[in-house]
Amino acid sequence: MKVKKAVIPAAGLGTRFLPATKAQPKEMLPIIDTPSIQYVVEEAVRAGIEDILIITGRGKRSIEDHFDRSVELESFLESKGKFDELKQVRQISDMAMIHYIRQGDPLGLGHAVAVAEPHVGDEPFAVLLGDDLISASTPLLEGMLKIHERYGRSVIAVQEVSRDEISLYGSIQPEFVEENLARVVSIVEKPEPDDAPSNLAAIGRYVFTPEIFDALRETKPGRGGEIQLTDAINLLAQEQAVYAYLFEDGRYDVGNKLDYLKATVEIAIERDDVGPEFRLWLADLVQRKKLL
Ligand code: G1P
Repeated sequence: MKVKKAVIPAAGLGTRFLPATKAQPKEMLPIIDTPSIQYVVEEAVRAGIEDILIITGRGKRSIEDHFDRSVELESFLESKGKFDELKQVRQISDMAMIHYIRQGDPLGLGHAVAVAEPHVGDEPFAVLLGDDLISASTPLLEGMLKIHERYGRSVIAVQEVSRDEISLYGSIQPEFVEENLARVVSIVEKPEPDDAPSNLAAIGRYVFTPEIFDALRETKPGRGGEIQLTDAINLLAQEQAVYAYLFEDGRYDVGNKLDYLKATVEIAIERDDVGPEFRLWLADLVQRKKLL
């Protein structure tokens, strides 16, 4: 069955970005000029998914405004002859059919996905987490959807990380079936490096069969007292095959201040507009400050 819907959890409080997130959602923090959640929506659309459900919560209204028409702004831009900007603004509201459900209590990522059930129904669907941005030139979700079409099962994206870093992620025990594809034997949320089944980390892209909702119903609060998506995936993997799709490049972590800064610089040097000048400035800065 073709995947037609995507779910983007965006209800978190963004405490790692205070004070910026005191009065605005972290998903609206821009990478250069584009809110991070827009990159995620664009990624889903590129993969052919145009029905997108964003799980929000209190204080997230600006996300809805961002993807809505802005009649006042549009007529202002039109009257000033700013047609490029007008086109850009219209594209944001036209690119997908976006729906919203509020999570209510922030009980964890698993709970956020569970509240999507009435919208998703009995269909496979994708989940995209906004802390991981995937470069437009990396067809990760497209690849995962192909695997899903081939096997009819859930697929999670994984990447190799260092042993120290594995405690920040879900870690899988893999059983490789192809070079870049493994069956998930088990998955554990944020293990200590010594207890991790491997250094293959779940990165925030998932394609699920609807049975994940049954697994989520059975999932008890886990790490940090939260309903963990990882625990539900582990349950699902005992019931039906779950695949892990291994990819290497093209991921930007924007989940904390330092990584956000690194991602901004990397994305900026690749941009056609600001990139060439920024690259020169950066090289000069490295020399001036004797960074190397
Ligand atoms: C979440 C998931 C974790 C996954 C990670 C990917 O953790 O719980 O399993 O590896 O996203 O970025 P978070 O980063 O929200 O703490």
